[in-house]
Formats: sequence, structure tokens, C-alpha cells
Amino acid sequence: MGRLDNKVAIITGGTAGIGEATARIFAREGCRVVVCGRNDASGNKIATELGNSAAYFKLDVTSFDNWQECIDFTIDRFGKLDILINNAGISVVETIADTTPESYMNIINTNQVGAFYGMKLAIEKMRDNPDPCSIVSTVSIDGVVGDPIYFSYCAAKAALEAMTKCAAIYCGQENLGIRVNAVAPGYIMTPMATQDAAEKNMTLEEYERTMAIDHPIGHLGKPEDIANAFLYLACDESSFVTGTTLMVDGGYTAK
Ligand code: NAI
Repeated sequence: MGRLDNKVAIITGGTAGIGEATARIFAREGCRVVVCGRNDASGNKIATELGNSAAYFKLDVTSFDNWQECIDFTIDRFGKLDILINNAGISVVETIADTTPESYMNIINTNQVGAFYGMKLAIEKMRDNPDPCSIVSTVSIDGVVGDPIYFSYCAAKAALEAMTKCAAIYCGQENLGIRVNAVAPGYIMTPMATQDAAEKNMTLEEYERTMAIDHPIGHLGKPEDIANAFLYLACDESSFVTGTTLMVDGGYTAK
């Protein structure tokens, strides 16, 4: 018996890193998953490997119309929507001095506006679902605490945390049976970390060693560390948890 038997999930940013690990763990736990992303080759490969319980959908989270098509696709394919893992995101190394109006809006559009579209449309669909539903967004340690070199990224993730609380209270007040939470990862070894290391002119080994110093646990995280937190918040074991951010950060923000 799986922890997500009979559930249907949309996972954004599902073709790499944390989202890919989440798709694999959710499928293993009996969930039918719509793996969303922009990389067709990777999305189709993951969906094929997961078999009949998975499908790939090409989604650019910055497009409201594309989001609507994604929800429609999910209903056509699997009949309902119980879980949204609002995980797609991008980061860039820039201080407030380096940030331009264009680069700021690029980060906000993907990490904040894209997550808003998903949250809004998922709630619209889930309100007719008689089963318990769950929305979980990926925020970050950045935004919970400030970091001068991730100015726009911190802004977007802090906003997403606030949106999570507002939506959770709304869903509770309306008695919708939808819980809304967030997970805040510390540094996780994914393609985003590879890009971050390159932007900091470090090899991946240097990056892993240097960044680990800021995590009291002594090392960086794996995509599965975050996927398992999503699993807890998506399944009915967390039925009394809403409006919260679960820190999965190796103690980064405990200091
Ligand atoms: P990743 O770069 O491996 O995955 C991000 C995914 O989002 C990719 O599949 C990418 O194609 C997708 N994506 C980006 N823009 C998109 C768009 N406009 N439409 C649709 N998909 C889009 O990175 P990772 O690490 O797996 O990131 C997942 C989430 O975790 C992100 O929200 C990120 O901000 C967050 N996060 C990651 C941390 C890390 O250290 N890796 C730390 C804290 C948060």
C-alpha cells in the first residue's frame, strides 16, 4: 500500500533536480503524476520510465493559458487533481546593485507569478474534489533569511511564503479541504547548484565543500531530501498541517 494511492499530482519543474526526484518517489508511492517542464526529451523519458501512472506535459509556468491547459490535460488523463507541487524555479546571483528591471521581473515571473497561477487554478479545480487536497510550493532558505547576492530570488521566495499562508487561510475559511504549505530547502545538489557554482567561479567540489560550512549538519542536501518532505505534506499523514513552511535545510536557518 502506497502513501499516495489513488492520488493525482501535478509536479512543475519535474524534468530535473528536486522535481524529478519527487515524480519518481510519488509514483513509487502509488500516485499518478503529470511531470511538467520545458525539456521534452527529459520529460518524456521520465514519464516512460514511470509507466502508465505518469504523463509528461510541456508547461511554461509563466503562461496562465498554458497552466489552464495543464490542468485540463490532467483531468482528461487522470480524472481529477489532488496534489500540486509548485516547484519550478530559477535563481541568479545578483545584488540589488546588479539587478536590472528586466532581470528582476524574470525572476519574479517564474518564481512568484508562475507559482501564483498554479495555486489559483489548482484551488479552482480542487474545490470540486471531495477528497483531501494538498498544494506544496518550493520556497527557499533565501527569503526566510536575506542574502545580498540573491536579491530578486529572495524577494520572490518570500512572497511565495506569504502567498502560501494567505491561500491556506482562505481554503480553511471556505472549508475547501485543501491544505497549502511550502518547503524551504537549504543548498541541494541539483542542476541549479551546478549553475550557481559556475556563476561563483567554483568547481562543483569546491562549491559543495564551501557551502557545506553554512549547514550545521555538515553537508549539502540531495533532491530526495526535499522530495520526502513533499511526500509528507502531500499525503494525509499531514492532515493537520496547513499554512506552514517546513525547513529542510540541514540547520542553515537554526543559527
Ligand atoms: P533545477 O534547475 O534542477 O530545476 C528547476 C526546474 O524548474 C527545471 O526543470 C526548470 O526547467 C524548471 N523551470 C524553470 N523555469 C521554468 C518555467 N518558466 N516553466 C516551467 N519550468 C521551469 O533546480 P532545483 O534545484 O531542482 O530547483 C527546484 C526548486 O527548488 C526551485 O524552485 C528552486 O528555486 C528551489 N530551491 C533549490 C535549491 C537548491 O539549492 N537547488 C535551494 C532552495 C530552493
